[in-house]
Amino acid sequence: MSAFRWVCESTEGRARAGFLHTAHGVVPTPTFMPVGTVGTVKAMTMDAVRSTGAGIVLGNTYHLMLRPGAEKVRALGGLHRFMDWKGPILTDSGGFQVMSLGALRKLDQDGVTFASHIDGSKHRLTPERSTDIQHALDATITMCFDECPALPAPVEAIEASMRLSMRWAARSREAFARREGYGQFGIVQGGTELGLRAESVRALTDIGFEGYAVGGLAVGEGQALMFATLDGTVPLMPEGAPRYLMGVGTPDDLLGAVERGIDMFDCVMPTRAGRTARAYTERGTLNLRNARHALDTRPLSPDCDCLACTRHDRAYLHHLFRANEMLGPMLLTWHNLAYYQRLMRGIRAAIVAGDLAGHAGRLRAGWASDDW
Ligand code: GUN
Ligand code: ZN
Repeated sequence: MSAFRWVCESTEGRARAGFLHTAHGVVPTPTFMPVGTVGTVKAMTMDAVRSTGAGIVLGNTYHLMLRPGAEKVRALGGLHRFMDWKGPILTDSGGFQVMSLGALRKLDQDGVTFASHIDGSKHRLTPERSTDIQHALDATITMCFDECPALPAPVEAIEASMRLSMRWAARSREAFARREGYGQFGIVQGGTELGLRAESVRALTDIGFEGYAVGGLAVGEGQALMFATLDGTVPLMPEGAPRYLMGVGTPDDLLGAVERGIDMFDCVMPTRAGRTARAYTERGTLNLRNARHALDTRPLSPDCDCLACTRHDRAYLHHLFRANEMLGPMLLTWHNLAYYQRLMRGIRAAIVAGDLAGHAGRLRAGWASDDW
């Protein structure tokens, strides 16, 4: 079994193409991780997820500790066997989900106590408990337990929250069991304050992790501020480690973040949008519920090799959504994930070929054409 490491293949500007080596396989980067919150990528079989070219998926500590429970997943052979995903799995640590989902949460220096969004039962997460749960799940990549303030917030609040997250990062590292091919990522916080971001990067690199994530973005600040924050933060992060932008984003967000040196992404956008009839394509987005698709016998996208595009037409997809048939969300989720994986493969190939600038221009022109 090989060590957990990220190896650079080529760069163009700040963009990087590389390979992430893990105990559960090698993943070309930049990569997009489909979100499998509760041990399932919603509306998809794992064979379907694999067929899109996904190399790594995400799971959530918060959801899995509540249902079915981390010890149950451990007893059932870990998350890989439980959900039938042999590739690497990254698990988020729960702090962010407690803040966005957990009712009646109470934060203290040691951790967070919260009520389950499922049945109101009381639970507690600390850096140690979150890390233990991620071990029980057998996560290939464990995330530090952190806190992410909603923006906008006063600078003092962002500063106090970032410093708490850095103390929690040190405790998460202490609790982490080092195993060949497994890794733990620190999470840079600090809102859009570049001074705080720099302090956070220093704190995490002093501790030392196998990878580094940028958290606390795409929480309402807008794309321009997110890119400005990446411009001021990513160049400070270690060159030899993978960089993961958490919870991002649209195809245009992914392209801009890769141009700024990010290697890994996760987002519910392609899966959630698919369930509500919204499709991402090379020529912008479209909504299959729209009446103009009712008699349209063209494929959703002629550039796509997914099942929705190769076996069905827009009129049928439109009908499925109008009839509230579950095949509609299934086919469009498949299509959107296929699109996101194709997008990342194309960006990666362009970096290797030294043509990211040209490729990016063509991608943006395609999205802007809105050719429907
Ligand atoms: N997902 C999106 N943003 C964040 C963040 O800041 N922290 C964690 N743990 N998960 C996230
Ligand atoms: Zn398709």
